[in-house]
Amino acid sequence: MEHVDTHPVRPRRVLITGAGGQLGRALQEAFSDDDVLALRREDWDVASPPPAGLGPADLVLHAAAWTNVDGAEDDPQGAAAVNVGGTTHAAALGAPLVAFSSDYVFDGRKGAPYVESDSPAPLSAYGRTKLHGEAAAGESAWIVRSSWLFGPTGHNFVRTMLRLGAARDEVAVVDDQRGCPTYVGHLAEATRQVVELPFGTWHVAAAGDCTWAEFAEAIFEQAGLGCRVRRISSAAFGAKALRPAYSVLRSEKGAPELPHWRDGLAECLSRLGASRAAGEGE
Ligand SMILES: NC(=O)c1ccc[n+]([C@@H]2O[C@H](COP(=O)([O-])OP(=O)(O)OC[C@H]3O[C@@H](n4cnc5c(N)ncnc54)[C@H](OP(=O)(O)O)[C@@H]3O)[C@@H](O)[C@H]2O)c1
Repeated sequence: MEHVDTHPVRPRRVLITGAGGQLGRALQEAFSDDDVLALRREDWDVASPPPAGLGPADLVLHAAAWTNVDGAEDDPQGAAAVNVGGTTHAAALGAPLVAFSSDYVFDGRKGAPYVESDSPAPLSAYGRTKLHGEAAAGESAWIVRSSWLFGPTGHNFVRTMLRLGAARDEVAVVDDQRGCPTYVGHLAEATRQVVELPFGTWHVAAAGDCTWAEFAEAIFEQAGLGCRVRRISSAAFGAKALRPAYSVLRSEKGAPELPHWRDGLAECLSRLGASRAAGEGE
């Protein structure tokens, strides 16, 4: 006799913080088969405890963060309230937690890809808050370190270069920082695999590496923009926060491997083209 299940399994309830950010939006797409509760900053300022009535969650994807790296130098306590306090509050929900962290927890002096067992030594206030946030995530957590995120929405290097590249003949771009530009869509898809792995720290960044100047050249080339890139040093650029000169992330533990950053860039540009065509661009 055919077995009929009259008690279907309840869909997994996934709570996403920072749902208005570039990764938060990509996570909503990647987890769309689940019962997703997407919370933007106006729904929950994570620097405060969670609002009442959220209900139980099976999984928390904590993508809310203070991501203004230079701004954190001026207001390290404000950044800590979000990146450390916010992670404490997300962990207090009591569900398994994905806490996203950053290559900026490293000082960049290793000169070879950073793996999960390498010792962090952040150079910036932002990096310190992300490192302390990792500790605040607790034991039932996956710490997913990624780097140089970009996507079709929000503030990111690709969107900035598209804007500048359309308006100028030349842009000056830093050429002495090397990392892995990671497409948020690829990171969000990989996050579905990470939550099948044991709790702990996982490095999940795009394959390949480049400098910001090389990334800008690829953006202009793939977007068909004639803008030139003038390669400058971090010192000449003069950003407030120090950033690691080399922050390529790789996994020694078998984290999911992501496509090459050039493939992520192609996907991002095609999404932007599609949203421009639909009149949805931000
Ligand atoms: N961006 C990168 O290059 C990069 C690299 C490595 C790791 N990461 C990490 O990846 C994660 C996602 O970053 P992202 O690139 O998606 O950043 P993002 O686009 O700046 O998104 C962060 C989101 O968090 C929100 N937020 C800020 N303060 C908040 C608060 N107090 N309460 C609730 N929400 C708040 C922001 O809202 P508003 O827009 O209103 O401020 C924004 O929607 C973060 O943990 C980040 O540290 C980022």
